[in-house]
Amino acid sequence: MADAIQGPLQSYLDGLVPTRHPELVQMEDYARSRGFPIIGPACGHLCYEVARMTGARRVFELGSGYGYSTAWFARAVQENGGGVVHHTVWDAALSGLARRHLTAMGLDGLVQFHVSEAVAALEAQPGPFDLIFCDIDKEGYPGALPAIEPKLRAGGLLIVDNLLWGNRVFDPSRRDKATEGVRELTRLVTRSPGWVSSILPIRDGILLAYRVP
Ligand SMILES: C[S@@+](CC[C@H](N)C(=O)[O-])C[C@H]1O[C@@H](n2cnc3c(N)ncnc32)[C@H](O)[C@@H]1O
Repeated sequence: MADAIQGPLQSYLDGLVPTRHPELVQMEDYARSRGFPIIGPACGHLCYEVARMTGARRVFELGSGYGYSTAWFARAVQENGGGVVHHTVWDAALSGLARRHLTAMGLDGLVQFHVSEAVAALEAQPGPFDLIFCDIDKEGYPGALPAIEPKLRAGGLLIVDNLLWGNRVFDPSRRDKATEGVRELTRLVTRSPGWVSSILPIRDGILLAYRVP
């Protein structure tokens, strides 16, 4: 029943996203054909909307792939008056591909590219950031939080993808490291008085967490 609803629901939500740059559409086609896990149109548009609403100008992404989510944040930062989006991925080929896509959209001037382990790249930056987005390997989620907290400004926003993790998070038989990593990050954020947070069940579940000043 859930699957019968889930597919059409997500297609419906993606279909509501306004017409976007042809380069973004090409990136979506590439993800579909290669099975590459991008956040997709509805979550991308949500990230763009939230970054616009909060006036974010300093954004750090952990786990940027070939720059699809980066493009949504970079457009928001551009429209907010300019700033920087940090793109981090440990694969040089993906970083190069991201640079080509962002250049094609005229957004490369807003992006700093780091070929690095993402948490180490964040720790190397002075911060503070208005918005931090996390989409690294899921077993790394809980370990990323202590690096994220001091780099986010008071009143800043943390967005984390895959908080439903293919619905494995509420299947008690799933005890693998990735699922446990998502569960632990969820516990840490939702039980802390330092965050006001919600998981929106768009695509694979996206966490919006406000850093209480
Ligand atoms: C889920 S994909 C990112 C998709 C991207 N956020 C988007 O929506 O367009 C995660 C990417 O980050 C890389 N990655 C995973 N964990 C990482 C880490 N700890 N440090 C750097 N890169 C990482 C993966 O190899 C992959 O290319």
